[in-house]
Amino acid sequence: MSQIQSPSLNKVYNQDCISGMKNIPSESIDLIVTDPPFAIKFDGKQGNYGRDSSKVLDGYVEIPKEDYPKFSLDWITESYRVLKDSGSMYVFSGFNNMKDILNALDSVGFTLQSNVIWEYPFGLYAKKNFVVSHYNIFYVCKNPKKRIFNSDCRFSNSKPRYHDLISVWKIKKEFWKGKKTPTKLPTEIIKKILQYSSNPGDLVLDPFSGSGQVLTTSKSLGRNYLGFEIVPGYFEFIQERLTMEEEK
Ligand SMILES: C[S@@+](CC[C@H](N)C(=O)[O-])C[C@H]1O[C@@H](n2cnc3c(N)ncnc32)[C@H](O)[C@@H]1O
Repeated sequence: MSQIQSPSLNKVYNQDCISGMKNIPSESIDLIVTDPPFAIKFDGKQGNYGRDSSKVLDGYVEIPKEDYPKFSLDWITESYRVLKDSGSMYVFSGFNNMKDILNALDSVGFTLQSNVIWEYPFGLYAKKNFVVSHYNIFYVCKNPKKRIFNSDCRFSNSKPRYHDLISVWKIKKEFWKGKKTPTKLPTEIIKKILQYSSNPGDLVLDPFSGSGQVLTTSKSLGRNYLGFEIVPGYFEFIQERLTMEEEK
């Protein structure tokens, strides 16, 4: 099992991740899966596809566009430092400011392994543009020769395995009945990433935890986890979810 002294294993911290990650020892994390703010003036109430926005928790923290290059460089620099040589990272990104993410990934030394496209239904309607129905997922690693990639983790016969391996992932968004954060990733997408790029007992980090989806899915698959979330209400929500998992 991974060794980490401070911060503790299997915890989420209500903290800015850039300062929080400075307390993580170098080369101690096996996998980072994260979905940072996209600097698109998102107010947390959009994008709920006609669902009841009164159940969406307030406080979503966005980054001003002009600060995005430095913000991206700062958290990606820390991510590189804390990842093991065998480690990988998956970064979700919209298209608007993806150049800042790609520049930062490149400048700190990450190797881009793949640009996965996550295709989802219900893109937001645009009157004079194409309806956006995808996110980019940049799959990067520190050392291409040492990275973990469990090709046979999900299927044993060739046809579905081929479909699972292609770089366009068609996965539906999840609907939630109760209270929610505005940008929760589907469990299936996190599960897939964890299965391909980590093993049970590995340590998974999400610097921008949101609803805690990466942390709860890591826990359910027997991975250790560590997370940061700056919004107190989201942090409390994550803690509730992790406790509920324990009580199951
Ligand atoms: C796109 S959401 C993450 C959604 C998450 N993947 C999920 O499935 O619920 C980005 C999150 O980063 C948080 N955030 C923004 N700046 C932060 C910072 N400096 N440190 C930690 N969290 C931050 C936001 O409040 C938001 O919850």
